[in-house]
Amino acid sequence: MKKRILSGVQSSGTPTLGNYLGAFKNWVDLQNEGVYDCLYCVVDLHAITVRRPPEELRRQTYEMYALLLAIGLDPKVNTLFVQSHVPAHAELSWILNCYTMYGELSRMTQFKDKSARHAGNVNAGLFTYPVLMAADILLYQAHLVPVGGDQKQHVELSRDVAIRFNGIYGEVFTLPEPYIPPVGGRIMSLQDPTRKMDKSDPNPSAKILLTESDDSILKKCKRAVTDSDSQVRYDPATKPGVSNLMAIYALATGKTIPEIENEFSGLGYGAFKPAVGQAVVALLSPARREYERLMADIGYLESVMRDGRDRAAAAAAATMEKVRNAIGFVSL
Ligand code: TRP
Repeated sequence: MKKRILSGVQSSGTPTLGNYLGAFKNWVDLQNEGVYDCLYCVVDLHAITVRRPPEELRRQTYEMYALLLAIGLDPKVNTLFVQSHVPAHAELSWILNCYTMYGELSRMTQFKDKSARHAGNVNAGLFTYPVLMAADILLYQAHLVPVGGDQKQHVELSRDVAIRFNGIYGEVFTLPEPYIPPVGGRIMSLQDPTRKMDKSDPNPSAKILLTESDDSILKKCKRAVTDSDSQVRYDPATKPGVSNLMAIYALATGKTIPEIENEFSGLGYGAFKPAVGQAVVALLSPARREYERLMADIGYLESVMRDGRDRAAAAAAATMEKVRNAIGFVSL
């Protein structure tokens, strides 16, 4: 049996180059390695912890799903699905709520951040968000959970809850571990390279969207904030802007940092920035064209969603039966 991998992405806002290089690209690499059984879900139940118009949520769910296909995730090789299509997520989430401590949830840094940022809507869902995430993971008996650093605490909580549950009832859940990918990592804002490139950044110049036009990508790379010494040298501490562009260039072309330093030695930013732009265009434009094609064929997207839902639901049902029996619910 292959080890299972599960990850999720929220359907809120168009993902950026940062999401692509930090997360999605690894998902595609994992698929190509072929050693794992991978499930990826668009987490629309998580998305409603922040209020949003129904039409927007619906559109963004289609968009995110289409993007996953467009970047090269094969729905025959991976299970690609929408979280709310498998009601067992909500069901297991309620159950796990009863095995998660108030104190544990109070310590989650994302909750503290988000409740400060959305002070007018600190709903219980925002608080129990990590429990739903634990349900996503434990429902599929996932071994590894690829996440960025900001989600590591949530995966660790999932593991703690699984240990607690198994301690009471026996081996029901596989214990998950965070999987922080070897390369990729953090792509920073093009306007403030000390901060992460964030899809909800109000400044459009700070981020490159996966759906962005070639022209606009080239412009944003040219306008990216760098220091005044014009040497292409990797040094995130004193040259965060150019180092970030170098990381992007490295990931987009497969070149190493020393190779890049060589390539642009003596050439300065005037040559380097357009080259970064070209590399990003070459990386993203095939995916964007595929994305546009998919978004024009909602019927096809829905048929792939249905297939993903059916496969995910079958895997989820096996776990739910174990859980119900373990707890002592009457089964008919
Ligand atoms: N909370 C994650 C994020 O905001 C998304 C997510 C939901 C997730 N469920 C998951 C990630 C399960 C990994 C596994 O990025």
